[in-house]
Amino acid sequence: MSENQDPTTPRARRAAGTAARVLLSGGAMGAAALFYGSVVERNAFTVRRATLPVLDASTPALRLLHISDLHLLPGQRRKQAFVRSLADLRPDIVLNTGDTLSSPRGIPALMSALGPLLELPGGFVPGNNDYYVPQFKTPLSYFLPNRPQPATQPRMPWAELSGAMASKGWIDLTHARALLDVGGVRVAVAGTDDAHLRRARYERIAGAADTSAAVRIAVTHSPEPYVLDRFAADGYDLALAGHTHGGQVRVPLGPAIVTNCGLDVWRARGLSDWKGMALNVSAGVGTGPFAPIRIACRPEVSLLTLVPRNSVA
Ligand SMILES: [Fe+2]
Repeated sequence: MSENQDPTTPRARRAAGTAARVLLSGGAMGAAALFYGSVVERNAFTVRRATLPVLDASTPALRLLHISDLHLLPGQRRKQAFVRSLADLRPDIVLNTGDTLSSPRGIPALMSALGPLLELPGGFVPGNNDYYVPQFKTPLSYFLPNRPQPATQPRMPWAELSGAMASKGWIDLTHARALLDVGGVRVAVAGTDDAHLRRARYERIAGAADTSAAVRIAVTHSPEPYVLDRFAADGYDLALAGHTHGGQVRVPLGPAIVTNCGLDVWRARGLSDWKGMALNVSAGVGTGPFAPIRIACRPEVSLLTLVPRNSVA
């Protein structure tokens, strides 16, 4: 037997020690990343701000708060406090692009957290997680084609949740168009049901967007390209969506790895142009309860200042 093969030799003992240290340090780095992503960054709520020249000329600026993917659980006090603090941003209008709850028992906590935001002009659409109680699924499933929900999967109380928000004045934009009066400015809004669950029926709201309004805003949960194409073709100025969680776990300083829909990974969060229509994809405030981790993708809401088209060079 050579020295290389003999585990009792000094050289073999040094090699074994190096391998053990590499494994230990790799394990420690993984544990640190897991701790950081699930405890620190998951609760590092932030407000992403941008100015968008989408209003008709001579219209006063509007502050639009876009919230999405709260995935609220009754015990998530820090998240509820963050949502409660958003009224301090003094938005003029609030639009919620779905996946609002992760527990059927979350409605009272949600309504309490939204608080004064519900007194503002607002609207909402459902996300896929507003219809079904969350179930564990392997991370690999995010890379596979979307499959129908099992018929046995327990349902979320969407009718109760949408009724609670609507009772305060927010408009249910599920396959609906509406004209909101936002401090004297006419804002046209329209929304679809969720495309991820194949519930979007764009034909129910199809037609040219309302040109009597100062701005035309589309809302949908999952930013599937075929839905965005229809909104853009109908003349909407801005589309709001969520669902992607911004990729949720990203390569630091790099792109998202997956969007969980047909959207390109570079559009997984933030603003981009979609065939002449501005698109804002929210990285969302929460995570699903079975993957409570965010890395290089802070939980966020968007505060979009809408200004006249001719006011930004
Ligand atoms: Fe979500």
